Amino acid sequence: AASPLDIVPVAGRIGAEIRGVALSGDLDPATLAAIRAALVRHKVIFFRDQDALNDQRHEDFAALLGEPVAHPTVPVAEGSRYLLELDSKEGYAASSWHTDVTFVEAYPQASILRAITIPQAGGDTLWANTATAYEDLPEALKPLVDTLWATHSNKYDYAGALSIKDAKRSEEYSKIFASTVYETEHPVVHVHPESGERNLLVGHFVKQFVGLNSADSQRLFSILQDHITRPENTVRWRWRAGDVAIWDNRATQHRAIADFGLQRRTLRRATVAGTVPVSIDG
Ligand code: SIN
Repeated sequence: AASPLDIVPVAGRIGAEIRGVALSGDLDPATLAAIRAALVRHKVIFFRDQDALNDQRHEDFAALLGEPVAHPTVPVAEGSRYLLELDSKEGYAASSWHTDVTFVEAYPQASILRAITIPQAGGDTLWANTATAYEDLPEALKPLVDTLWATHSNKYDYAGALSIKDAKRSEEYSKIFASTVYETEHPVVHVHPESGERNLLVGHFVKQFVGLNSADSQRLFSILQDHITRPENTVRWRWRAGDVAIWDNRATQHRAIADFGLQRRTLRRATVAGTVPVSIDG
């Protein structure tokens, strides 16, 4: 059936803007169902002008999509129950490609990110489609990844993604983000529970592939990440304060772009509980 929403694709393979919806308002069941369908189809959806969404309403909206969950290691944002604050004043750990919180077994199914303070220029976010990335892999590689598993951990090389000038910050990130170390194994290819599509599940929390040594793991990781993050496979969002982005965390990776110098950039994020990913043989 045609969607009751005004949906405008932003890039060719991922991302769409939804116009004319106030996420802070009473959403009728048909609108909510259409938002969910658009999320699974477009993988990341954007809403402008959501300034009425304060912390409380942000959390209430997250609860309409599922069970909101706080970040496992980072204390919640002041005054909120579940929100994670991403504030450039505290340094920034989100500028390398990842899927949120994959170091736990049942990692979040969706994230809802709200822009509060945005640099005049810079600080965009990129998302990549992990389903088209799998689809595009050379046929010769698919049988290898189809049965492969990876160990994900929040104790990873935070400095690896930073400019060398910022490398000393990585110790602070590590203290906050890996104050408790989590580690889990996931299939490298998982079947999306709603779309049925096969998705690559990699990103910066991958520590090693099961059965490969660290050198081979690193090479294979680069091959897979290169496929996932090809520009053709991504969308880039130029934020304005009051924007909201919602992504399907089972079908995407994302990263912030750390090109805004000392300007302030603050966003708050809600995450919605997910399920344990299922490999292609069940
Ligand atoms: C995140 O990784 O959830 C935040 C991305 C961003 O700050 O753009």
